[in-house]
Amino acid sequence: MNKTFYITTPIYYPSGKFHIGSAYTTCLCDSIIRYKKLKGYDTRFLTGTDEHGQKIEEAAIANNKSPQEHVDYMAGLAQDLWKQLEISNDDFIRTTETRHKVVVEEIFEKLLKNDDIYLGEYSGNYCVSCESYFTPTQLVDGDKCPDCGKTTDVLKEETYFLRLSKYSDRLLNYIEDNPEFIVPETRRNEVISFIKSGLLDLSVSRTAFSWGIKVKSNPKHIVYVWIDAVCNYITSLGYGSKDNNLYQKYWINGDEVIHVVGKDILRFHAIYWPILLMALDIPIKFRLFAHGWYLMKDGKMSKSKGNVIYPEHLVERYGLDAFRYYIVREIGYGNDGVFTPEDYVKRINTDLVNDYGNLVSRSISMVNKYFNGSVKKTNHNHEYKVFEEDLEKVANDIFSKYQKNMDEFKLSNALQDISALVKRTNKLIDDTFPWELAKNEDLKPVLESVMYHLVESIRVISILYLPFLLSAPLDVFEFLGVEEDFRGFSNIEFGTKLTYDVVKKPKHLFPRLDLEKETKVIKELMQSDDSDKKSEKEVIKMLPEIEFDDFTKIDIRVGKIIEAKKHDNAKKLLVFKIDTGDRIRSIVSGIAQYYKPEELLDKLVQVVTNLKPVKLRGELSEGMILCGETEEKTLFVIEVPNKLQPGDKVS
Ligand code: ME8
Repeated sequence: MNKTFYITTPIYYPSGKFHIGSAYTTCLCDSIIRYKKLKGYDTRFLTGTDEHGQKIEEAAIANNKSPQEHVDYMAGLAQDLWKQLEISNDDFIRTTETRHKVVVEEIFEKLLKNDDIYLGEYSGNYCVSCESYFTPTQLVDGDKCPDCGKTTDVLKEETYFLRLSKYSDRLLNYIEDNPEFIVPETRRNEVISFIKSGLLDLSVSRTAFSWGIKVKSNPKHIVYVWIDAVCNYITSLGYGSKDNNLYQKYWINGDEVIHVVGKDILRFHAIYWPILLMALDIPIKFRLFAHGWYLMKDGKMSKSKGNVIYPEHLVERYGLDAFRYYIVREIGYGNDGVFTPEDYVKRINTDLVNDYGNLVSRSISMVNKYFNGSVKKTNHNHEYKVFEEDLEKVANDIFSKYQKNMDEFKLSNALQDISALVKRTNKLIDDTFPWELAKNEDLKPVLESVMYHLVESIRVISILYLPFLLSAPLDVFEFLGVEEDFRGFSNIEFGTKLTYDVVKKPKHLFPRLDLEKETKVIKELMQSDDSDKKSEKEVIKMLPEIEFDDFTKIDIRVGKIIEAKKHDNAKKLLVFKIDTGDRIRSIVSGIAQYYKPEELLDKLVQVVTNLKPVKLRGELSEGMILCGETEEKTLFVIEVPNKLQPGDKVS
């Protein structure tokens, strides 16, 4: 039976469009899983979206959407993006799915029952963006989050705690006994020293907002989004449900489980997740690979800096192979890397256009010119044999080196191995001067052998590229007439395929890019991004029909704004007192970027009054003000003629 290999990406927050950072992790995993498939593993690949929590609730409000509407839309965008990048995931888990929610509820109850979770009170500084509490010593500049730099809120709430302290020694022993559990080693060391500095019990429920999984036995509490999230790795396999075959196969009896995460979420995966598993009496089957970050010249990517680059723009302009190649090649193992438009263009021109693409086209054209398209493995004793033997050795050695790198998740190194073989193959042309050999009929067998070595090496190179480039190697196999059997690792050894019949005119694999022009284009792409506006409109058009009865369930009333102010803790929110005829309601709305509070005072507006009340950053919101949205995504409150009165029904 084949060994199993289960790989996961983090489940991403669908709070905005995914930039190249999320694409980096996902492409890494996709290349790893494609490699494992080539090795014959029985594989499973999971990605998904982490859809609960205050951050998502606020992003939804800021877009004037319900959280569910917002996450449905964003999860759709995520899935479209992964389709475009041809990510070969077997499953896509959304934490708002029933299959996940019911199991997380049960997990929480089980931990409560076993006294691994207990009720207490927490007071401290909370960062909504990172969904985490920080102690005074961890804060920066008094009240700023040490991870993202945003201002934290002081919160005091009744909360459940997970007994991290109880498991701290056991975890430390586990990490020390299993040196491969967390890689690279620097990250492992970080985790060890974090644990040694003392683990406080972790607050694992929230009461300040409502968008999340409720604690079954005490529904005013919402399960902490990180506890909810990490469980996805097993809920998606059917843990805790009747049909748990995948869980048995890939987790319990599985051979390898790898969680790939960015260094930013190391602690959650290296400490909280294994402790949860220990508390649940589930074996820690996984290993953790924490990679570095894509940064921009001016630091982190952020929309407000105008330095964000989205994968789809690069794919649309330069093709999927080029994007997938760049993203995995540019960052070294475990390190950070900087995205620059110049480097993007140069990397493609150098590695793919000049080296690989050129080797393929030169070789095919020579095979056509000198041998009318057909060459076979031949023998000779010419002095050039040493160059050929050297190439054979390099190719076979590189295959071992490449596998070692791939097995250790050093994908950029593996790509450099392939590049070295491409260069060595190109060098065979410089070493043997085929155009000179062609002048002497007696040297025909030597020339044929050189040609054979070129195409055989291109075959090997193209196999090695298969986990990374999705079209070019297949095109090359077609150009060279490589049969299915010779397209995989089992026959990769140099000299295995004996004859070649190549096409007359191969199409261009990678067009050369004009450095100056394309650098400018990418810079422009980084500044303007209106693609989400367009697709959001398309989604709105596609909302399904509803029954008239459903429409009448929405109670829309005229309301008069009698008080308006900024939210104390959230830049995007305004807080209103609105007279809706029946009573004065408190309503929070995400329109602070479009209106000053005083501009809306005394206005008559339309209010949805029977929405379930929610708390937004500590402020109660008992309804929703209706707004219209322009193509440019500016919101306007829909005003009401003053013949109408507060409380009048809108239908
Ligand atoms: O943290 N460079 O979700 P998230 C490289 N929902 N990778 C990057 C990156 C960058 N600039 N930016 C983001 C969450 N990433 C949680 C995860 S898992 C149970 C819950 C990648 O959307 C990287 O993998 O903030 C990072 O860890 C992840 O996106 C964070 O994604």
